[in-house]
Amino acid sequence: MIQFQNVTKTFGSRTAVNKVSFNIDEPQMVGIIGRSGAGKSTLLRMINRLTPATSGKILFEGRDILRLRGAMMRRWQRDCAMVFQQFNLVPRLDVATNVMLGRLNGHGTLKSLFNIFGEADVADALQALDRLGIVQEATKRAEELSGGQQQRVAIARALMQGPHMILADEPIASLDPMNAKIVMDALRQIHERDNKVVICNLHTLDTARSYCDRVIGMRDGFIVFDGKPEELTTTAAREIYGADESFNEAATSTAIDAGNTGTRESVGAMTPAAAAG
Ligand SMILES: Nc1ncnc2c1ncn2[C@@H]1O[C@H](COP(=O)(O)OP(=O)(O)OP(=O)(O)O)[C@@H](O)[C@H]1O
Ligand SMILES: [Mg+2]
Repeated sequence: MIQFQNVTKTFGSRTAVNKVSFNIDEPQMVGIIGRSGAGKSTLLRMINRLTPATSGKILFEGRDILRLRGAMMRRWQRDCAMVFQQFNLVPRLDVATNVMLGRLNGHGTLKSLFNIFGEADVADALQALDRLGIVQEATKRAEELSGGQQQRVAIARALMQGPHMILADEPIASLDPMNAKIVMDALRQIHERDNKVVICNLHTLDTARSYCDRVIGMRDGFIVFDGKPEELTTTAAREIYGADESFNEAATSTAIDAGNTGTRESVGAMTPAAAAG
């Protein structure tokens, strides 16, 4: 489905993503992990063309999406919906309108300017909100909602785009553990029920382990790990995070658990002695 071929992004003399190649051949939920500055956001943003790549190819079903221009590019940006850490809602607009903004690319410019949404758009927005469990908030202003609710609105907006895939850049980094779980459950459900590719940048190992079918570890712009969550040993994690013998997974933990409805204590902590064994 998606092929990265030698994709590089440089900012001046700094190489944020360095000759990265990998394929996603089936609808997977992929977690990208790595320390701050590893290149995770840059990698994701190149897919939907928010950041231009310096060189290489990104193919989607055989087509190099880095070469798309104009209407074709906007169409592609709608096909790979982005979810951000800071939600990126319009705070003073009501929730339903925020969700319908996901449709804007689908309308002609004039129609978008002069308003606006038809009954079908409203019905779809309410359905998307219902799916995320927040349809009762539809008429509130976005700024009145909690962070977890706002992120669910952002995911509903992404669904309104009718995307092929969802790209989420640290979707839970601003949320408490309970809301983090609700948001990750929602992304996982979209992957499972709609059979969509979800690529999710995550700061924390345990979330990637709990939710993803595949984990890609980045370090200094390179992919240094690509495998199943169960292959992500403490040694592999040390390699990704560039940590030494004192590496402790608790430092990368958000303490949420896919199999549990409540919050829990982090169980990711490992002593160096246990890690060595
Ligand atoms: N717009 C930019 N201009 C200059 N340098 C940039 C820009 N965006 C990213 N970089 C640099 O590229 C590298 C990778 O940044 P990126 O944001 O992709 O990392 P990240 O893994 O997402 O980090 P974080 O976990 O902090 O979000 C960093 O060295 C960063 O300083
Ligand atoms: Mg980032």
